[in-house]
Amino acid sequence: MSDNRAIGLFDSGVGGLTVLKELIKLLPNENFVYFGDTKRVPYGTKPVDTLVRYAREDEAFLISKNVKAVVAACATVSSVAYFTGEELPVPFFGMIEHSVKAAVNLSKNGKIGVIATPQTILSGSHKKAILKLDPKAEVFGVAAPEFVSLVEEGLNDINDERVYNTALEYLSPLKEQGIDTLILGCTHFPVLSDVITEILGNDVKLVNMGEATAEQVKEVLKKENLLSENQNKGDVKLYASNVTNSFSKSAGFLLGVTINKKDIIQVDLGEV
Ligand code: DGL
Repeated sequence: MSDNRAIGLFDSGVGGLTVLKELIKLLPNENFVYFGDTKRVPYGTKPVDTLVRYAREDEAFLISKNVKAVVAACATVSSVAYFTGEELPVPFFGMIEHSVKAAVNLSKNGKIGVIATPQTILSGSHKKAILKLDPKAEVFGVAAPEFVSLVEEGLNDINDERVYNTALEYLSPLKEQGIDTLILGCTHFPVLSDVITEILGNDVKLVNMGEATAEQVKEVLKKENLLSENQNKGDVKLYASNVTNSFSKSAGFLLGVTINKKDIIQVDLGEV
């Protein structure tokens, strides 16, 4: 048995494309539908009831595209509105469960850092999940909302003073704590991996949530007989609620292909 319907992903903006990138690497023959809510970005500083409404609207949009699975490629939604996905008629995946397992497996000294949006840090989602797996672990969380703005603006160069100083401010306290593993707890952040490693050093291992979750998606779809039988490279459809040059540039950069504004379909899902 097989299923050629697409896998749907959503995020507030370009961040979830880091998850899409990992999924394409692992499941190149699958079709994908991606929605970036660029009109309403950022999510990580909004109230929880607003985020629950956004999550429901984003998920309903993907379901209307007849997807066979939904990935909340957004740790903020995964942290505060996970239950909305559990109500869907298709398998649903969040960002927390598998990335936390990867972090616990990687850490040798049990000191794990998490950088994420303010709402994700406030929810304690990564911390609670880590402590369930390893009650002795020490978890240090830092809210890093400015990282989301930098990535949405397409800024990730270490030589850019704003990028470097912002990273130094967020990461110095984690360095002082002696962490040996850092969860990039917002899907926007893998774009800044080089800058982060430059500041923390090569000994601190970075956990990319997209990488960890892609494995989980493959495993579950295989078990449920939902993988595609397509022999060719799959198709990727990109939707955004505000199609900007910076979105198409970032999408091209992350997916390694040229993407023009006209390749992205504009959709408006609801009020800000
Ligand atoms: N990329 C999202 C996350 O993983 C949301 C970032 C934002 O919009 O604040 O949390």
